[in-house]
Amino acid sequence: KIVPVIMAGGKGTRLWPLSRAAAAKQFIRFLGDETLLQKTLARVSDQKIYDAPIVITNEDFRFLVAEQARELGMKLDAIVLEPEARNTAAAVAAAAVIVSQRHGRDAIIQVLPSDHEITVDETYRTCVEKAAQAARAGKIVTFGITPTEPATGYGYIEIGEDLGGGVHKVSRFVEKPKAEFAEQMLASGNYAWNSGMFVFSAGQMISELEALAPEVLAAVEKSVENAKGDLDFTRLDAANFAASPSISIDYAVMEKTPNAAVVPSPITWSDLGSWDAIWKLAEGDEHGNVINGNATVSDTTNSLIMSRNAHLAVQGMEGVAVIASEDAVYVGRLDRSQDVGNLVKMLAANK
Ligand code: GDD
Ligand code: MG
Repeated sequence: KIVPVIMAGGKGTRLWPLSRAAAAKQFIRFLGDETLLQKTLARVSDQKIYDAPIVITNEDFRFLVAEQARELGMKLDAIVLEPEARNTAAAVAAAAVIVSQRHGRDAIIQVLPSDHEITVDETYRTCVEKAAQAARAGKIVTFGITPTEPATGYGYIEIGEDLGGGVHKVSRFVEKPKAEFAEQMLASGNYAWNSGMFVFSAGQMISELEALAPEVLAAVEKSVENAKGDLDFTRLDAANFAASPSISIDYAVMEKTPNAAVVPSPITWSDLGSWDAIWKLAEGDEHGNVINGNATVSDTTNSLIMSRNAHLAVQGMEGVAVIASEDAVYVGRLDRSQDVGNLVKMLAANK
């Protein structure tokens, strides 16, 4: 079986004001009935394929995770709590160390981000099976999504030599390129987007970290050794964990390891990272508007209009996001959605 590890410690600042410090985007219902975390949990609920999931998240989010799993009636193996955010390399390292203790070094782990929309169908399941097979042979396996635009918010994978079984070597992994380089990679036709999910054996990931990010591994190993457990929570030791460099798994391991492999994956996948992604994914009306909550909209096209409470009236707009949470409103162009994170930094500074 595969041990699912769900990373749910990100802040999701580009989806302000629905995604907030107190409840980041993975815990929010955007358009459907379930939160993004719940959709992710549902994706690994098939007990023929998966063991009980481990969720690794920030201390601040512990009750949100426990509550949302309970709502689904899902039993988690553990909720691992980070005393502070040290980015995804530390989270993956903690997962690898804990899974190797509980299930052995050969255990196969699937790491899943908690901020995606993915359709689970036969194609998806086949891709996961191929990835698990390659992981048993010592590969760190990614899923390659066919790129549709020169996005700069994703990692790019150059597809290399065919290793058989639907798996290719990664010739090169480029995390979050500059726009110009993204254009080139898109034009070359040889690159796929990194889906953000990874499949590997616990022992192989520990070896990679030992070689490529020893400071992350050392800090995390000590924080696991000195962790305190109560109820369903595993609390990583704060002082040890804080000593880990803050770096993503993409920069720490994926860009450097010779063992990276990719399963080209024709799956339905969307990173719900920004307002334009949510607008694109949702079914719009005949004017291209996606409207969620109380709103009166006139002479407006290709816009995303969401309100949790207040009645919004929007007139004469084109390609904008108007998002009202309980206590804050964002208005901006959809094609500037990537910049919301910067605005949130200004907000934090103004407090
Ligand atoms: N536990 C924990 N701790 N989780 C974290 C932390 C942390 O410090 N930081 C981020 N996460 C979680 C987020 O909640 C999310 O589910 C996942 O890890 C990925 O983090 P993001 O911050 O969303 O990464 P990204 O979207 O910028 O980039 C990654 O995903 C892209 C696809 O969506 C990279 O892997 C890219 O290469 C990839 O293309
Ligand atoms: Mg993301």
